[in-house]
Amino acid sequence: MALIFGIETSCDETAASVVADGKTVLSNVVASQIAKHAPYGGVVPELAAREHLTAIGHVAGEALKTAGVKPSDIDAVAVTNGPGLIPALLVGINFAKGFAAARKKPLIGINHFFAHIYGAFYDAGSSFDDPSLYPMLSLVVSGGHTSIVITERDGQAKVVGSTLDDAAGEAFDKAAKMLNLGYPGGPVIQKGAEKGDSTKFRFPRSLTGGAGKPVEEENRFNFSFSGVKTSLLYHARSLGGPEKIEGQILYDTLASYQEAIVDVLCSKAFDAAERFGAASAVLSGGVACNSVLRDEFARRAPKKLKVFIAQRKYCTDNAAMVAGLAFQRFAAGRFDGLDLDAYARMPYAGKIPFLAGGAKP
Ligand code: KG4
Ligand code: ZN
Repeated sequence: MALIFGIETSCDETAASVVADGKTVLSNVVASQIAKHAPYGGVVPELAAREHLTAIGHVAGEALKTAGVKPSDIDAVAVTNGPGLIPALLVGINFAKGFAAARKKPLIGINHFFAHIYGAFYDAGSSFDDPSLYPMLSLVVSGGHTSIVITERDGQAKVVGSTLDDAAGEAFDKAAKMLNLGYPGGPVIQKGAEKGDSTKFRFPRSLTGGAGKPVEEENRFNFSFSGVKTSLLYHARSLGGPEKIEGQILYDTLASYQEAIVDVLCSKAFDAAERFGAASAVLSGGVACNSVLRDEFARRAPKKLKVFIAQRKYCTDNAAMVAGLAFQRFAAGRFDGLDLDAYARMPYAGKIPFLAGGAKP
């Protein structure tokens, strides 16, 4: 049995986890900084780094303790090294390097984006190794990403669609900020939307070929959320300003706005699934916590697709997804040196180590 110790500090969660053989999560500790960033309506990188520094020792210790293992039992330490906020990433990377150097353990740098996809397979009754799941379509939706990726059986991954402006999570966060609902926007919008009628207002579905204007082929699987946000602003102004939107009108607004985002995400994902002949569809990332998105993704998926929706605890940032993906690298014997660097952006196309015995990164 291989025990991987995972560390995640790419954004505003300090997380650590111990996972056995890429499958069994022995601990999954997450310390959220949301309350610290809330007054600013978004994540402040330097503040995130300071908070990670304060929390990392304790969070890592808790992860080992909960898993019931000693540092010497660990086979490798894995850490997110991008994409993310550089000052935040560096805290996790330096901690992991210290652990690796002091304990003489291999170090594995992990791409946060692919880790999100891996997280959907925990307790899913299936694994990446199942050849019948390929080609695999993944929709990763978070505060930093909105992308559709097609992965082939040999580990070749291709991003077929991405956002041209805001990520889906930002569309939620910025709308909540506009309406003075607090941060993060996703959960608060979902809650209000539960009391609203999603057919009350019609918000635009950008790049879907609506309004009699066909979408160009190059943007068929791309997203744009700046239009829906601007449309919300005009909607608010037409009602006398954001502060005038309250009660039932607020709930109907939130439900209609949320529906516009969910509709675009699902229709593009399943159009891509059809186009690329996908056998399975994965939904992951922080926005995948959204109940309406989860329901619609499952309901609208063509019957021939095997659907994997990450459990909520593996949707938002966590280190179990990092430690799990790292097991694939561990099994392939591919490690990083103590010169491992942090990257704000990382390519998420190319060969990826999803498949046991398959592709090497
Ligand atoms: O994956 P994540 O924790 O961090 C990033 O890597 O960005 O995602 C955070 C994002 C935030 O934008 C937050 O508003 C959104 O996920 N989110 C939601 C929900 N819960 C979190 N969006 C919609 N509905 C939710 N229930
Ligand atoms: Zn994330």
